[in-house]
Amino acid sequence: MALHVVILAAGKGTRMRSDRPKVLHEIAGKPMLHYVIETARALDAAQIHVVYGHGGDQVRAASAHYPVNWVEQAQQKGTGHAVQQVAPHIPDDATVLVLYGDVPLTQVQTLQSLIDAAAAGHLGLLTAILDDAGSYGRILRDADNSVVAIVEYRDATAEQRAIREINTGMLAAPAGRLKQWLSAIDADNAQGEYYLTDIIGLAAADGAEVVTSHPQHAWEGDGVNSRQDQARLERIYQGLLAEALLADGVTIADPARIDIRGSLACGQDVFIDVNTVFLGEVTLGDGVTVGPNTIIDGCRVAAGTHIRENCVLERSVIGENCTIGPFSRVRPESDLAARVHLGNFVELKKARVAEGTKINHLSYVGDAIVGRDVNIGAGTITCNYDGANKHLTEIGDDVFVGSDTQLVAPVKVGRGVTIGAGTTVTRDIPDDLLCISRVPQQHIEGWQRPRKKRR
Ligand code: UD1
Ligand code: CA
Repeated sequence: MALHVVILAAGKGTRMRSDRPKVLHEIAGKPMLHYVIETARALDAAQIHVVYGHGGDQVRAASAHYPVNWVEQAQQKGTGHAVQQVAPHIPDDATVLVLYGDVPLTQVQTLQSLIDAAAAGHLGLLTAILDDAGSYGRILRDADNSVVAIVEYRDATAEQRAIREINTGMLAAPAGRLKQWLSAIDADNAQGEYYLTDIIGLAAADGAEVVTSHPQHAWEGDGVNSRQDQARLERIYQGLLAEALLADGVTIADPARIDIRGSLACGQDVFIDVNTVFLGEVTLGDGVTVGPNTIIDGCRVAAGTHIRENCVLERSVIGENCTIGPFSRVRPESDLAARVHLGNFVELKKARVAEGTKINHLSYVGDAIVGRDVNIGAGTITCNYDGANKHLTEIGDDVFVGSDTQLVAPVKVGRGVTIGAGTTVTRDIPDDLLCISRVPQQHIEGWQRPRKKRR
């Protein structure tokens, strides 16, 4: 039976106090709606329908890479009204699963039991038992413990509010019956909205069995209505990611002080220190260590490399057994071979650096191709920008660049060249020479330093 997933994402999210539509607010650097769409895709849905309304253009633009059917709900008249908009897009013999764009962490296995109940002709409902049931809808059961209705908090009596079993909002039903129930709901309630939850009472009256299940973890049903909810869910999610890495054999100095906003794949015996942030896709090879206060964004780091404290590495490839930092910045499109050393206050940008080369102090190497076993002295700068265009600096193998050298690009330094400290290189240097452009040193005899006038 074909599965159609309906994701409700039309609401405004007033309590976020934001210009951004609520479902685009992020957990671990990814919009909440995208988690829900990806969960729906993992369920092998025949079609995923996303109900949009508030900030619809933004929501659609941010999610354009997903193959979903966008259904507009021009006015937000309630969750039941939202599902009604999708009804014409769903064949009667399908199974429908309703998810929420602001409930990002529901697991695939949890939803499978709802789908199974619906496929058997029942209404599957995901409920949870909470110590503090807050303003969730309450589940009403009869003397036989069968679900007979859901009452929204705002419409509930004091007695009903004392019920601890709540509606997570997620449900599944056979499409044909769901459509019948939906056509019978009204807006006769405290909020004047068409409640999806009213179909439960209608289904029960219709003789349908309401099959409830609970998520394995309480947070699976947690929705985000405020920044507080978002921050809490972010911590829960980061905790899960850290747990998974620990289980995989990674040492994490403090699982509460690592943030992963993307994917982090680690080899064996990786060590990650505190206050580290990983963005995009990051791979760390065997034995890699990452020092404290370091940010790694979209990099591949090969085995045995030590990234020390306070480094920022972006969209680059780092070879085996390198030493990076402290205080190194590697900007996008850099590519370091094995055994490269980068030290304090060294900035690389779009630099290809071959094996064994050392750039240890206070240098800028941008738009450059640097050979093997080169030693770049302190304060060396590639002058890659003429105010309009960027130019390439090429440095051959075994070059020794003295401290405080400027390489004015475009320029080529031949292999084996030695450059004296303080040189400004403006022309290509042939192999194996000494290049020096220093102003000759002068000694002025009897020089008198100016003195302050006495008053
Ligand atoms: C809903 C449930 C409540 C449940 C809670 C769980 C109803 C009537 N109530 O309440 O029983 O305990 O979720 O979190 O369903 N939306 C639309 N169009 C609308 C209204 C809402 O797309 O016209 C979307 C929202 O963007 C949101 C979701 O539906 O993603 C839930 O809406 P919300 O107003 O937050 O419902 P709750 O009051 O939380
Ligand atoms: Ca909600």
